[in-house]
Amino acid sequence: MYNQSDLKKLVNKAILNLSYNEEAEKLNDPVKYILSIGGKRLRPVLALMACNLFSDQIDEAVIPATGLEVFHNFTLVHDDIMDHAPVRRNLPTVHSKWNLNQAVLSGDVMAFIANECFLQTPARCLLKVFREFNKAAIEVCVGQQLDIDFEKATIVLQAEYLRMIELKTAALLAASAKIGAIIGGADDKDSEILYEFGRNLGLAFQIQDDLLDIYGDIKVFGKIMGGDIISNKKTFLLVKALEIASIEQAKQLHDQFALKEFDPETKVKTVIEIYNQLDIKNISETLANDYINSSFSLLGKVSAKNERKTELVNIANSLIGREN
Ligand code: IPE
Ligand code: IPE
Ligand code: MG
Ligand code: MG
Ligand code: MG
Repeated sequence: MYNQSDLKKLVNKAILNLSYNEEAEKLNDPVKYILSIGGKRLRPVLALMACNLFSDQIDEAVIPATGLEVFHNFTLVHDDIMDHAPVRRNLPTVHSKWNLNQAVLSGDVMAFIANECFLQTPARCLLKVFREFNKAAIEVCVGQQLDIDFEKATIVLQAEYLRMIELKTAALLAASAKIGAIIGGADDKDSEILYEFGRNLGLAFQIQDDLLDIYGDIKVFGKIMGGDIISNKKTFLLVKALEIASIEQAKQLHDQFALKEFDPETKVKTVIEIYNQLDIKNISETLANDYINSSFSLLGKVSAKNERKTELVNIANSLIGREN
């Protein structure tokens, strides 16, 4: 059985071995940059662990798993443009270090490099895996569109928020687990359970990401503090706060999010004060924990021996209270 650190090493090695079309000198620099500055490699590790549940031969899954990571990094480059984010993984984002055109184009090429990786899936399951990946990729785009639409919406219901994060974040984690399982030879029933397992992890993961935007240690989290508040994101924290706030608190929140010109620090501080009054941190952590617990129940239903599941249990556990 491979552990998380073995698998991360395998993925990092595969990333270094990716091949590039080097004709246009500047195109690949941002790609190599974003792929080299860290990242948890959660999606490929999840895929390889799911594969390893069913098979000791995981090498066939390494390149497709790397495709998941390349695709994920593409979404980050474009996400940082859309979210006007200056910093990721404690370093300048691609569009800040280069410019908008470089970020758009290098993001685009990463999506196709990801495709190249998926084309190296064993022929026996290539079509199944490629369909799964493509479906998730489209869902990420739909979720990102909703995320942007919600910035301007006055009220977003919890169910609408959950659907948005299911698309923008959980869909790729779910597909990662399922793709790994398929390559490992799992049957349809187990592959589907792994999908649900990843989906629940993904929901917990995005709620935790929303929490870290405010309550994280910025040096570890590697993104600017309060970025979601500054860009009027409907995070779980805000959606829940607006749901349970008093009329006065709700007015204060709406006022902050309606400001055209503001001092970012004051806006972040005012909003956090209201979150603290409403115990939003606790409520959010409880929901994230519920999703992690659901993922454990799902894992219990997978028809592999329990001792083969320990690494997936560990990774699910590490998402609770993670700091980056
Ligand atoms: C960030 O993903 C984007 C979200 C879906 C919250 P990660 O937190 O997995 O980012 P890296 O790859 O580890 O930097
Ligand atoms: C990320 O959502 C979703 C993606 C598909 C990239 P966020 O916008 O919250 O991710 P971070 O916080 O910038 O990493
Ligand atoms: Mg973002
Ligand atoms: Mg975003
Ligand atoms: Mg975020």
